[in-house]
Amino acid sequence: MTAQTSPETRSFGTSLGAEIRGVDLSRAQPPAVLKQIHAAWLDNLVLVFRNQSLSDDDLVNFSRQFGDLDMVPGWEPFSPEGHPEVLVVSNVQEDGTAIGVLGDGEASWHTDMAYIPQPPPASLLYSLEVPEIGGDTSFMNMYAALDTLPDDLRQAINGKILNHDSSHDSGGNLRPNHTMFGSLAEAPGARHPIIRTHPETGKSALFLGRRLHAWIVGEGVTKSDELLDRLWEHCTSGDLTYRHRWQKSDLLMWDNRVTMHRREHFDSSRRRVMHRTQLKGNQGVEAAR
Ligand code: SIN
Repeated sequence: MTAQTSPETRSFGTSLGAEIRGVDLSRAQPPAVLKQIHAAWLDNLVLVFRNQSLSDDDLVNFSRQFGDLDMVPGWEPFSPEGHPEVLVVSNVQEDGTAIGVLGDGEASWHTDMAYIPQPPPASLLYSLEVPEIGGDTSFMNMYAALDTLPDDLRQAINGKILNHDSSHDSGGNLRPNHTMFGSLAEAPGARHPIIRTHPETGKSALFLGRRLHAWIVGEGVTKSDELLDRLWEHCTSGDLTYRHRWQKSDLLMWDNRVTMHRREHFDSSRRRVMHRTQLKGNQGVEAAR
């Protein structure tokens, strides 16, 4: 039997993101390697594992090492047979029926399922088929977004709560079983502090979820929009991102508590097939003090 060497963590030198080399995720990992991956994930926020050959069972087994898995309400029909914990993200249609969600359009900046009381701590996305051009996924470091916020804006949002609309997906489409609401204050969803403390690292970060139909609870819509527009302008104009150019057989794992991500559109005639898992949120995330 050959001795297992430790995987290597190579930071990309961007605001977030690192590649983990020297690990075959289709095999069970020793506790020391899982510990190393967990620590690298907390430090780098997004981990990239290239050239992985993973069945849905492998993807589920690896994901489960970090916690229980969760499903996306309403998207149950888009799981592969026998794998309810796996969600297919794809533009492919078979016999006129979509096999997955999100199509080929842009998925705007978002945190996965910020609209539920305990959003997933981690999401994992595995590429089975990718287009040659387009469909890149970018990630944003929300610790850095807070750290670089102008003082007056930080003071203006300190202690505030954000309502996260649950009725629309990141493509802007109304989710199944939802109807359009009247005013922003009636948007369904969960409420979270805008500045939160990460339960494992103890560091504070901005938590914005997504821009569409967001509302700062208790503020008039004009004032809420003004503050949110400033926050989003700050986040999206800074150098706070890592852009991932997908290759087939990449697995990405991100800390959903302190990142947002965005998927670029791609040519509708090209196939893109990704399988995704996410951890179940089970830790309260507190407002920063
Ligand atoms: C997602 O927003 O979860 C999907 C990202 C992607 O398709 O790259």
